[in-house]
Amino acid sequence: MKKAYVKSYGCQMNAYDAGRMADVLAAEGYSATDTVEEADVVVLNTCHIREKAAEKVYSELGRLRVLKGERAESGHDTRIVVAGCVAQAEGREILSRAPAVDVVVGPQSYHRLPDLLRQSRETRVVDTEFPAEDKFDHLPARRNRGVTGFLTVQEGCDKFCAFCVVPYTRGAEVSRSVAAVVDEARRLVEGGVREITLIGQNVNAYHGDGPDGALATLGHLMDALSAVPGLLRLRYTTSHPNDFADDLIAAHATNPLVMPYLHLPVQSGSDRILHAMNRRHTGDAYRRLIERIRNARPDIALSSDFIVGFPGETDADFAETMRLVSDIGFSAAFSFKYSPRAGTPAAEREDAVPEAVKTERLAALQDLLDRQRHAYNAASVGTLTEILVEKTGRHPGQVAGKTPHLQAVQFDAPASTIGTVVPVRITRAGSNSLFGEALEGAAAAA
Ligand code: 5AD
Ligand code: SF4
Repeated sequence: MKKAYVKSYGCQMNAYDAGRMADVLAAEGYSATDTVEEADVVVLNTCHIREKAAEKVYSELGRLRVLKGERAESGHDTRIVVAGCVAQAEGREILSRAPAVDVVVGPQSYHRLPDLLRQSRETRVVDTEFPAEDKFDHLPARRNRGVTGFLTVQEGCDKFCAFCVVPYTRGAEVSRSVAAVVDEARRLVEGGVREITLIGQNVNAYHGDGPDGALATLGHLMDALSAVPGLLRLRYTTSHPNDFADDLIAAHATNPLVMPYLHLPVQSGSDRILHAMNRRHTGDAYRRLIERIRNARPDIALSSDFIVGFPGETDADFAETMRLVSDIGFSAAFSFKYSPRAGTPAAEREDAVPEAVKTERLAALQDLLDRQRHAYNAASVGTLTEILVEKTGRHPGQVAGKTPHLQAVQFDAPASTIGTVVPVRITRAGSNSLFGEALEGAAAAA
């Protein structure tokens, strides 16, 4: 049997796409492998969001070139595919920079992968079109992958933040219909999935065709999904503050499947920098929005993305970011040094922040965010919570799962609890996960 190795970099959208590519290849007779040395097809699903992410791809392609040569010596053909946002952004250039690559395919053309692989036997191929047909209509049905699953409901972004390549690599915002999403959700749940994370580059701008002919919001979509029997939890990511409609806030109070966790990137706390980033909101607008969300769901856990060292960022601007983090209090966060991306407006600016300053600011910010995360987890000790069990744990007899607030928890329970929600008391906070005890009888009953 032929084997396919699919490696994904970057965001959850890419992880979802990688799964769908594995499905496409499975329909062509390729079984999945984690061992690149035995793969007949290697797919790198790339990320272009920051410079480091893109450079990683080229070093990986250098290693793959050697591997391809070694396999050829023992009579094995290896097709190398570059997919994802580097493929979309650099297209044909990848063929000249990486001689081992056979196929370059953009995110809208994954359903064409079998054709592209066939064509690549004649000549190296590039497909970075935005095809007229909808790839979702041409992808094979999804196979079950565990207790939690991603489901793409929206792609693309119309926001054009000054630092970001996404509007260029992923194109304009497009939403799938409520019916298509509910249908895919049903299949996932039939396959054992209990928690679905709805994903989109700007997911709360979702506006898909609804059952009544009108456009549905993300709040409506989650209402429709809560009727899917067997589905226990819903999450969504990534959102933009300016698309946070009242009905989405309300969903956190009224829809019991919507988990009390929100990833809402703010990027900076300085109004001057936010303006330069074309974010179109201020630090205070973000604070007010969070206050409204907390009024609807007081226990909501908050996460965010931050960029330090955007061109022109002064010490005073950075202090505003630190002040915003202190004011809000995050349970988790991602923070990055600004890196210029070709083709974005910010890349044209000449007032770059020195690397050493970026390093210093990132360390200070991450230190504060780490302290907040630890404090958040420490405050959970002693509380009673519900864990959706995802898998067996690190030690025999243990299982692992997540709280509604997306904290990882390990506790003793039989593997038969996988896929169920178990009431657990948190007993201890480790550095990366919490530990707990199932309430008496709860785990045994599962
Ligand atoms: N430099 C650094 N970080 C970036 N991000 C996006 N573009 C850049 C860039 N050019 C970050 C933002 C975004 C996250 C996915 O990646 O914080 O929310
Ligand atoms: Fe990029 Fe901004 Fe769109 Fe997020 S909202 S994908 S950061 S342009």
